[in-house]
Amino acid sequence: MFELAPYLRKQQVRVDAFLKAALPPVTTRPALLHKAMTYSVLAGGKRFRPILALAAAQACGRPEAAALTAGAALELLHTYTLIHDDLPCMDDDDLRRGKPTCHIVFGEANALLAGDALQTLAFLWLAALPAAASPARLVAELARAAGSQGVIGGQVEDLLAEGSRPSAARLRYIHVHKTAVLIEAAVRLGAIAGGASEPQIRQLGRYGLALGLAFQIADDILNATSTPEALGKPVGSDQARGKLTYVAVHGLPASRRMARSLVRQAQAALKDLPGPSAPLHALADYVICRKN
Ligand code: IPE
Ligand code: IPE
Ligand code: MG
Ligand code: MG
Repeated sequence: MFELAPYLRKQQVRVDAFLKAALPPVTTRPALLHKAMTYSVLAGGKRFRPILALAAAQACGRPEAAALTAGAALELLHTYTLIHDDLPCMDDDDLRRGKPTCHIVFGEANALLAGDALQTLAFLWLAALPAAASPARLVAELARAAGSQGVIGGQVEDLLAEGSRPSAARLRYIHVHKTAVLIEAAVRLGAIAGGASEPQIRQLGRYGLALGLAFQIADDILNATSTPEALGKPVGSDQARGKLTYVAVHGLPASRRMARSLVRQAQAALKDLPGPSAPLHALADYVICRKN
């Protein structure tokens, strides 16, 4: 029987060790910038995306070394999106990963620049991978997922939709783009870096996209039902800002049903992979039962 809790702990330690060793030292000039970057990256975090990248390589029966670097690069990019998402000009939040947000500690300008620097560093880590890991393709995949037709597009529409009338189609666009495409990228990058076949990469992409949408629906549910202590970030803020969320548009019971159905859809995409897929299967269940 596959046990998720010890698996998650072990993979988190592995990802954290990589990040700690590979980030520029906080004593390197400009020390203030490197402190801000390190503060946010090492503040905690579930490391869900790098863990998915590792599990994807494993499910394809491929080596995991390049997938670890690719997953860590994704974590840098993800952390940049969180730093910017929390800025006063965006969601204006002061708690993240159980700690004061980057701009509260280092000021707005340094938080903005730390986010910028984490984003470029993510691409540097991908570009430096050996040829066997297809670095140019990894760079292109992450750029597409993170750009104007990916995360940034979703973030723009998320802000535009504040206070707007409920629209299920617009809501889906926002959640797919601001969150699901990066989770799709996590499994695709892990598989590509490991040298998986094209059908396997596409198959894992379908898993990631469905799971990513479930992940953001769960985030909406937690914002409406959890506590800041359990979540490590503010609660009730979506409603306060008039955000378009699954809870606001569909209500709690329907949101839970939709998230469960997406998890089953993701799991159904895992058929006939050559390596162990139990971790990916369990990670899908985790998305909707997680407490933070
Ligand atoms: C938070 O992501 C932002 C969303 C896309 C909902 P996570 O829930 O993965 O945050 P960390 O990395 O664990 O802090
Ligand atoms: C998550 O946005 C997506 C990104 C940060 C790109 P949210 O604003 O919904 O996430 P939280 O709740 O602040 O983590
Ligand atoms: Mg936001
Ligand atoms: Mg936010």
